[in-house]
Amino acid sequence: MSLETVVVLAAGEGTRMKSSIPKVLHSISGRTLLGHVLHAVDGLNAKNLRIVVGAGRELVEEHVSVIAPHATTVFQEHRGGTGHATQLALAGITSTGTVLVLAGDTPMLSSPSLAALLEVHHKGGFTASVMTAEHPDPTGYGRIVRSDDGSLLRIVEERDATDNEKAIYEVNSGVYAFDGAKLADAIGKLKNDNSQGELYLTDVLEILRNDGGSIAAVLIEDFVEILGVNDRSQLAESAALLRDLINEELMKSGVTIVDPLTTWVDSTAQVESDVTLLPGTWIAGKSTVASGAVIGPRTTLLDCTVAAGAHVIESNCTGAVIGKGAQVGPFTYLRPGTDLGASSKAGAFVEMKNAVVGEGSKVPHLSYVGDATIGEGTNIGAATIFVNYDGVEKHHTTVGDHVRVGSDSMLVAPITIGDGAYTAAGSVITEDVPPGAIGVARAKQRNVLGWVLRKRSGTKSADAASRHSDEKKG
Ligand code: UD1
Ligand code: CA
Repeated sequence: MSLETVVVLAAGEGTRMKSSIPKVLHSISGRTLLGHVLHAVDGLNAKNLRIVVGAGRELVEEHVSVIAPHATTVFQEHRGGTGHATQLALAGITSTGTVLVLAGDTPMLSSPSLAALLEVHHKGGFTASVMTAEHPDPTGYGRIVRSDDGSLLRIVEERDATDNEKAIYEVNSGVYAFDGAKLADAIGKLKNDNSQGELYLTDVLEILRNDGGSIAAVLIEDFVEILGVNDRSQLAESAALLRDLINEELMKSGVTIVDPLTTWVDSTAQVESDVTLLPGTWIAGKSTVASGAVIGPRTTLLDCTVAAGAHVIESNCTGAVIGKGAQVGPFTYLRPGTDLGASSKAGAFVEMKNAVVGEGSKVPHLSYVGDATIGEGTNIGAATIFVNYDGVEKHHTTVGDHVRVGSDSMLVAPITIGDGAYTAAGSVITEDVPPGAIGVARAKQRNVLGWVLRKRSGTKSADAASRHSDEKKG
């Protein structure tokens, strides 16, 4: 038996989220809720993937076109219930293979658990199989009602349940495998005789059973996997649980995490063994961190590549490449297009964007480096600004190898500072500096002797000055 079709139900409004964006587009751990579900489904090699969209349709379709371009979206105009959504998804499908149905709001589901459900379903030749779990607080979930012989009788929703049924801890995950042909037949028989006036997919199980079908309720060990996200508390809860799972895996693989509670590594990021993550660190998006790197405390890396042995302290970096053994921080802001060479440095209160910094070059303090190429072994003095914006357009600055840019230089782009050149501190450099030259572009100093005694007599400055006979004479 092969998996023919996967149906993901994602049309609900997510009313309980109180959000202007559709529920399934809310994110945890670097993926949307829908993204997590599609990721789990990815390895199952289904022939068709159908996603039922409704609320916020355009946004969800746009997202699907990016993360699962092979999927077909099916539009459910009005919320008619999970059964109605499944009906729509199955329209036009005539093949009889297995259909897997799941919700777009259960981000903790893992591929192995889905594969295990399918295995039970196929091996046992069941008409339908539903994944269940024992939840310590089953409130809000459909309850699994079993008959005396232990077989599944039906699923009852919280709001339709009697007190006895509400006392059941075994809940419906919302994940089902069906014999496609039998499902197609039974789904037409659903009735909306429940408190919400909706067609419940859960009722299909009872219909199939009454028609003589065999139903499996597959209890999985860890209820965490089936957690649904319906409100912001559950969103935070799932995010924290996923954080813990990921941190646990990382620590097992040899990553030091000093404070797992405040360390967040997205499921989309990669961290190698022998990396140290200090408190308050978030490794987000498609970031990768190579062995021996030390990140944090209080550092965010989004879509960054950090090479072996680099240190990033108290910094915020997006779309940056941080070379082998490079030093970043504290209080450094690296923006997209920053490419720090091996053993280079972006120090305290330095902002960079679209800047390539050569091997061993240093920008140690209080600087802005935008739209620049810096060669090897160069030092950029404190408080240097790469003046890249003329108010309309951005311009590029090229700095050669082994250059010494004096503190508080303004490098007004477009400009080139040649290999081995210097600029004098406090210069506003508006013209190229040839290799080996020093660019001096500042007013010449003049001292007006005795000025303080004449103009500020009686002040503490004048008193201090008067102690120096030279000054008095002047
Ligand atoms: C559903 C199940 C419940 C189960 C729980 C697991 C039903 C009737 N109830 O309840 O037994 O314990 O999931 O998380 O199936 N959706 C549509 N169209 C609709 C209605 C819903 O696409 O017309 C989608 C939603 O976007 C959501 C999923 O189906 O992704 C489940 O809907 P939701 O309203 O969250 O159902 P629950 O009350 O959580
Ligand atoms: Ca739900």
